[in-house]
Amino acid sequence: MNRIAVLTSGGDAPGMNAAIRSVVRMGVDMGWQVMGINHGYTGLIADNMMPLGIRDVSGILQQGGTMLGTARCPEFKTEDGRRHALRVLNEHEIEAVVVIGGNGSQAGAHALSQLGFPVVGVASTIDNDLYGSDITIGVDTALNIALEAIDRLKVTASSHERAFLIEVMGRGYGYLALMAGIAGGAEAIIIPEVETDPEVVAAELRNAYERGKNHALVVVAEGAHYNAAGLAHYFQEHHERLGFDLRVTTLGHVQRGGIPSAYDRLLATRLGADAIERIAHGEYGILVGLIKGEITATPLAKVIASQKPLDPRLLELARVLAK
Ligand code: ADP
Ligand code: F6P
Repeated sequence: MNRIAVLTSGGDAPGMNAAIRSVVRMGVDMGWQVMGINHGYTGLIADNMMPLGIRDVSGILQQGGTMLGTARCPEFKTEDGRRHALRVLNEHEIEAVVVIGGNGSQAGAHALSQLGFPVVGVASTIDNDLYGSDITIGVDTALNIALEAIDRLKVTASSHERAFLIEVMGRGYGYLALMAGIAGGAEAIIIPEVETDPEVVAAELRNAYERGKNHALVVVAEGAHYNAAGLAHYFQEHHERLGFDLRVTTLGHVQRGGIPSAYDRLLATRLGADAIERIAHGEYGILVGLIKGEITATPLAKVIASQKPLDPRLLELARVLAK
């Protein structure tokens, strides 16, 4: 092995830089040259890459985002796009590529490995919706950002006796909302995995008001059937009496931009290093992630064919605690 490449793809996640640093420094330690591909699969197709040495990844460990940039690349979903990417990799005599990203990015990694190219994926997305890792790079930081916002909103909600609908990211998955809701002491949590009747939510808010609570927080996953704006609209249309005055806050991309937590830096560093060790041992077509506390490799074919279920015990806990 002489030369490998690394790219970040899909939504950026705090900790991606720590993973890049780990891949580069471990790769150089193996005696390889490491190429950094800019802007994910878009940069790969456009032949936008540069060699990365030890010093090129200095000072990035504590930075959110990704120094390589990232992108969503529709062209990579086509056979032509991937064949073009393969040509670029071969022209540069790159022998393996590390793909740091979430579900879509790992689907791309799998498609590339189906063409016979050696690929190792590193589990990274704030959504935590990727099979093959109990927790992915970025989740801890994003969750803490959401939690800080929830704590702040609780202060102003209590002062004004208001209810807040707080929308968090997660795409089609309810993990971030569920965990932020439990850790933030929400009165209700609305996620895609559980059907929600808006009238029941309205009744819960009314009930909280009548019991003398001075605030009520509802954490809503962006991918739920009723997102925060949809729920507020429903309450208005149906003249639901809530007791509280209602406000809506959508946290949005604020959740992605944080300084990576210690947990995310360590996870990213360990996963990046493991990806290099797997390449050194000739293990390809896999995703490295954390399962039951151990760094574990799962075949990409299995990763992309599987759904990661939410823990039903957490769903039940959230229901019981929201009193
Ligand atoms: P994430 O990796 O954060 O889930 P996306 O779902 O946007 O982000 O996927 C990132 C990129 O991965 C896409 O823009 C595309 O280039 C590539 N990708 C996604 N799905 C596939 C697929 N089925 N086949 C090939 N490439 C894919
Ligand atoms: O996958 C990460 C994520 O932040 C999702 O939670 C969210 O739905 C999506 O990316 C937003 O994508 P974009 O940055 O393209 O708006």
